[in-house]
Amino acid sequence: MNILILQGSPRANGNTAWMAEECRKAAEDAGHTVTLVDVGHKKIAGCMACEYCHGKGNGACVQKDDMQELYPLLAEAEVLVLAAPIYYFTMSAQIQAPIQRIYNMNKPPKVKKMALLLSSYSPNVYDGAIGEYHGIQRYWGVEDIGIVTAKIDEQKTEETKRRVQELVAKL
Ligand SMILES: Cc1cc2nc3c(=O)[nH]c(=O)nc-3n(C[C@H](O)[C@H](O)[C@H](O)COP(=O)(O)O)c2cc1C
Repeated sequence: MNILILQGSPRANGNTAWMAEECRKAAEDAGHTVTLVDVGHKKIAGCMACEYCHGKGNGACVQKDDMQELYPLLAEAEVLVLAAPIYYFTMSAQIQAPIQRIYNMNKPPKVKKMALLLSSYSPNVYDGAIGEYHGIQRYWGVEDIGIVTAKIDEQKTEETKRRVQELVAKL
């Protein structure tokens, strides 16, 4: 399958980037085509709600920032993996912006499955992020492959790698 992973942490050596990389490796080993985009380091602004995309733009976004690199990848992706750190009980701003900029296409047309990878310091801080993820997944009518969370003492461990690999095996 064609898998797109969005990595939403600004910390290149953090746990989210590590989980996204483990996901990429496992998916490539299984023969999937994988693109990992480090949205944590992209310049992607929030949606302006200008409705250009639903009018004159005919599906195109008026904002010419790094999101333009993502649109062709989203158009082809069959699986979307969101990987994000928890910031104040939800996903980081760096991943919220690209998620909300999907407004022009409403749903990536070929996506059939989604998964979620989350990093945090504390346990029991995932309800906001998981609620958003399930909201999007149900709204798009796509299959939930699973969620892997890693609080501080679960980060970069063999057990977390195994959980990511188990998730990928369901694709
Ligand atoms: C701005 C900010 C807000 C954070 N908010 C939370 C939080 O609400 N709950 C929590 O457990 N950890 C919080 N953290 C800690 C991060 O989630 C944690 O360090 C995580 O491992 C970061 O992911 P990364 O290693 O991929 O960068 C916060 C960190 C930052 C920088």
